[in-house]
Amino acid sequence: MKLVNGFDLMEYAKKNNYVLPAFNTTNLEMTYAIANGLTEANLPGYIQISSNNLRLSNPRIIAEIARDAVKCSETPIGLHLDHGKSFEDVKACVEAGFTSIMVDASHLPYEENIAECKRTADYCHFYGIPVEAELGALQGKEEDIVNEAECKTDPDMVAEFVERTGCDVLAISIGNVHGLCLNPQIDIPLLAKINEVSSVPLVLHGGSGIPKEVIWECKKYGLIKINYGSDLRKEFVRTFGEEYEVDHNAHDVIHLSLAAVKNVSEKAKELVSMINEK
Ligand code: G3H
Ligand code: ZN
Repeated sequence: MKLVNGFDLMEYAKKNNYVLPAFNTTNLEMTYAIANGLTEANLPGYIQISSNNLRLSNPRIIAEIARDAVKCSETPIGLHLDHGKSFEDVKACVEAGFTSIMVDASHLPYEENIAECKRTADYCHFYGIPVEAELGALQGKEEDIVNEAECKTDPDMVAEFVERTGCDVLAISIGNVHGLCLNPQIDIPLLAKINEVSSVPLVLHGGSGIPKEVIWECKKYGLIKINYGSDLRKEFVRTFGEEYEVDHNAHDVIHLSLAAVKNVSEKAKELVSMINEK
């Protein structure tokens, strides 16, 4: 298949009561692994990459690898810019063929966040691409960014924010955290309140470490997408680390890379199956 448009992927998910995992990639190996894992599970989801991780390559290269990774698959898979940090990155990803975009302006003052999200939505909607925006802030470590202060999403701000930005999906802060250093404490009643007032489906960042029973509960309240980064990255690093622990002269990159693809793929398959068990 070709990479699937984010609007179509969300429609497919709603119709089948799926929640879509968005798995963070960094490189060629993880990109193939994510596509393989979703295909083996035959469950839809996204390959995604953040602005921060695009430093290793660029949108065009990642999109080319993703297209190659999904071309023999019959499972709907999209390609998403995660935590898009600049309008330049947004334009480069749209140009490269990404099928879904997140603009992360949640660190800006409220009015600037709205303006940046609206600018991005107006641009991406010309190309029929959905836009994810974030209201609130997560604690934890997202690659190089450490955020100490949690700022849970205020339900009273949701309707206006969605209306004024034109976003198609909303990333929220309800006790979810980035990374593996903190334990997520998901506030389901808050999610239910947000779902009541949101006209768009909801996204949970910081999927690593959230128990499956909590995710199944969140599916009842508008959850359409859940992001996983650390759980997959750990599998990649573990593959090389375990070999090095045994042999400090280890240098068989091809076999370790193939093993890393297998390990990350198995984790992706495990996670997408787990979140859609119920
Ligand atoms: O945007 C990426 C995700 O929010 C990653 O979160 O590393 O806690 O799974 P995680
Ligand atoms: Zn995130």
